[in-house]
Amino acid sequence: MAPITFFIAVLASMAMLLESTNGLSIPSFNKRATWWKPTAGMTWQIEISHELKDMSVDASAYDIDMFDTPATIINTLHSQRRYVICYFSAGTWENWRTDANSFAAADKGHKVGSWVGELWLNTSSPSVRNIMLKRLDLAKSKHCDAVDPDNTDAYDNTNGLGLTQQDSIDFVTFLANAAHARGMAVGLKNSGSIVSDRIVSLVDFAVNEQCVHYKECQHWTPFISANKPVLNIEYPSAGSATTQTTKAKYCNNPARAGFSTVLKKMSLDDWYMRC
Ligand SMILES: *[C@@H]1O[C@H](CO)[C@@H](O)[C@H](O)[C@H]1NC(C)=O
Repeated sequence: MAPITFFIAVLASMAMLLESTNGLSIPSFNKRATWWKPTAGMTWQIEISHELKDMSVDASAYDIDMFDTPATIINTLHSQRRYVICYFSAGTWENWRTDANSFAAADKGHKVGSWVGELWLNTSSPSVRNIMLKRLDLAKSKHCDAVDPDNTDAYDNTNGLGLTQQDSIDFVTFLANAAHARGMAVGLKNSGSIVSDRIVSLVDFAVNEQCVHYKECQHWTPFISANKPVLNIEYPSAGSATTQTTKAKYCNNPARAGFSTVLKKMSLDDWYMRC
């Protein structure tokens, strides 16, 4: 390599380094006066199919499984100047979780779609809520910067417990206040029908699956107006990797203006492409 070419290459890699850290300064977890306030357009990766292995994806935040991910991996992500969002199911019982035996039979409802070993939960039950507080304590102890509580949209499903949109609003409010009290940000997962000015100001970001595919992204645009990220996942080709042509079809859709879209396989493994 000629010296001038080498010099340009060095400059380019320095610029990339600056861009990849994006000027982020992440205060150490215990020194934060308040919780993390992410802004619209943030880059992210989501990998919740197993314990995270690939930490090379260049993204400001990683959404990972709270139970399956050891604190050491969260510490490593922090040392790479990334924020960590911890995923757990707040509205369903999963028979494989370490705390599965804590749930009362009376709090369990209909099965969740065709998922095996998963049932809707009565999210108004004080017992269920106490278990969720313990899960938030676990997230805090692992130094998660934020939580991604899933399955808050029982009202849209055959839940077997009579859960309504108002129940969902109450539960999301409960989770958001409890996360904030523990110094963590919180997202609204799917649940597009309950988005209102109050919900947008309550939570710190939204996580959405397939709004481009289902043509319902308009539910989440108020988050962008409030400069809060909409972390959008599309599954263009179910189990296989997405092609550049398919990528363009999703990414060029004006409905997702301002959204942080990732194209993933349904398994939500390491495979990643972003708009
Ligand atoms: C859910 O829990 C609430 C609060 O304990 C209770 O009032 C309600 O009856 C329960 N719903 C069902 C279907 O058991």
